[in-house]
Order: sequence, then structure tokens, then C-alpha cells
Amino acid sequence: MSSDHTHDEAPPLTEEIAPGTAADPAVGGPDRATVTVDGTSVTVEPGATLLDAVEAVETDDYVPALCSYDRQEIGPRSECRTCMVETDADGIVPACSHPAEDGATVSTDAEAAAEARDVNLDLVLSNHNLRCTTCGKNGRCELQDAAIEQEVEEPRYGVLDDRDEYEPIDDTSSFIQIDRNKCILCNRCVEACNDVQVEGVLRMEGSGQDTRIGFQSDAETMEDSTCVSCGHCATVCPTGSLVENGIEDATTIPLPGFTQKNSIGKAIESSGKSKGPMTPKKRATEHESDPATNGSAPNTPTIADRASDDESNAEDATDDWAGFDGGEWP
Ligand code: SF4
Ligand code: SF4
Ligand code: FES
Repeated sequence: MSSDHTHDEAPPLTEEIAPGTAADPAVGGPDRATVTVDGTSVTVEPGATLLDAVEAVETDDYVPALCSYDRQEIGPRSECRTCMVETDADGIVPACSHPAEDGATVSTDAEAAAEARDVNLDLVLSNHNLRCTTCGKNGRCELQDAAIEQEVEEPRYGVLDDRDEYEPIDDTSSFIQIDRNKCILCNRCVEACNDVQVEGVLRMEGSGQDTRIGFQSDAETMEDSTCVSCGHCATVCPTGSLVENGIEDATTIPLPGFTQKNSIGKAIESSGKSKGPMTPKKRATEHESDPATNGSAPNTPTIADRASDDESNAEDATDDWAGFDGGEWP
């Protein structure tokens, strides 16, 4: 960007350039529309999508919709393609982002649509750490629900557990934990943070296989980001990727020697400076005016330091279970 760029030259912020889908107009037309889904007619509200019509009737086939969030107008981003249906007019389309046009006919049980949903769900699972037993969302995870409903026995492309690509859990924030091994890149959290909370903390970064949830401030950890700990991102996350601290292992099935953290090998732990209800941004401001620190940032361990600390934490956790004889949980 040129250095002489000024705010005066910036275009005015208008609805046309408002960011994200939460600020987008409704997908469908201005009138109510009557749509036939698997032979059943249903009338949906102005602006509705085919997914709204599908969800309004008891369909022949289950239609997951993992990147769609039907509250707060977050999404759809049409990222996951687990919601494919067949239409007479346009063939196979993602139901979440296709407008419900009056007179449209939709089949959820068309073979090609069902196969597209299956393949796309398997693709989502292929990039996911399926360690449900140690996951805080076990039993209330939308990806787990979709896999159960679709009767997935073994994802055709494998799962992340079959590979060696684990990212350490980011456990640095007092409030929100990030396990990117469970992220399905649905973008819900980014929109919740940017468009609903208007905090501008999260972003999608990287490309292709390296795409991941990151921070707009280029911070490396949640602790160092500008997060205000509102928790909205965790509320909308469909998987165990963003979980509020304190309940990150609430639904874990306790297995001797096997904990939520050591199940992925490493976690990046807090440096200890972030305890308490204040946000990092506020702490930083306060810190600058603290004569005791002379305005300098406190020592922050590197990620490598934290990871190696955490390896010993995981070993300690395993040691805690050694000798467990089936009595009271340690
Ligand atoms: S908790 Fe932090 S990252 Fe999540 S939505 Fe709120 S400000 Fe954004
Ligand atoms: S962290 Fe959760 S909400 Fe955000 S993109 Fe990943 S799966 Fe979606
Ligand atoms: S829910 Fe339709 S593409 Fe994800």
C-alpha cells in the first residue's frame, strides 16, 4: 500500500462494501415462495434459501449444513458443500445459499445429490481430528451429528488421526481454547467475531491445505491477540475447535492416561500474564503506563518453549494415571 494513502482518499463505507455475509442482503427474493421438497409443498418467507425449505419439511434424506448458521444471519459461506440437493431448474446446488424461488422443485434423495453430500462430508472429516472421546463437544458437535446421521462408518479419505499433522492446541487464553485439528474452516467464528461482535480479531489465513484460523493482528496465540473474551466465536463453532475454557473437557469420556491435551501431543500454554477478566488489549494499555515495567512487555515464552513445557505436562498427566486401579478418578 502506498505510504501517502490517507483516510480522505478511502471510499466511504457503504452497504455495498460492508464485510461478511452477516451484513449481506437475504439470499432469496422479496416475496414468499412456495417450493416443493421431496413432493411436499412448503411456503417460505421472503429472502429464504432452499435450506430453509428443506428444513421446513420432513425430508426423505438427511441434509447436513455444517457451515450454515441459521441465527444472527451468519453465513452461509458455501464452504463445506455438505448441503447439496437436486433441483429441477439448476441441477445439484448447495441448499444453504441457493435462493428459494417460487415454484422450485427440490429432491434431497436424488442419488447424485446424496453422493455429493456423502463425498463432501468425508472430505470435511478427512481434515479433522476425530478424537471424540477426549473432546469437549462430544455429544453436542454438529460434525459428529452429521457423521452419525449419514451413517459414516469410515470416511473414505481417512481422518487427521491417520496422518502426522497435528497443530498444538492454543490454550493460552483464559477464556477460549483453539484446537485447529478440529477446525472445519466453516468461517462461522470469523463472521461472529467480525460482523456480529465487530471485534475484528479472527481471520482465515493461508491457502489450500495451510488454511487456518488466525488473527488479524498477526498475533500467534489467542493470549497475544486483541480478543475481548466475549465467547461469541465459541458459541457458533460447530465442532470442538473453539471451546470456552473451563468446559473444554466437559463431555470428555475419562480414559486412563488419555486426556484432552495429551491426545493431540502438545498444547501452547498461557505465559501466566493473562489471568483475570481483562482483555489483552486493555492489559497492554495498562502495562504501558506501569512505571514498574518501564513500558516494556513482560517476558513471553516462545511457542517452542511452551510446546516443550507442555510435553512434560502431558507426561505428568500420564504419570497421574499410572497405577490407577479403577477406584476414584485421580
Ligand atoms: S471471544 Fe475473542 S475471538 Fe471470539 S468472537 Fe469474541 S472477540 Fe472475537
Ligand atoms: S474454529 Fe469452529 S467456527 Fe471457526 S472455522 Fe473452525 S470449525 Fe468453523
Ligand atoms: S452448509 Fe451449505 S455449503 Fe456448507
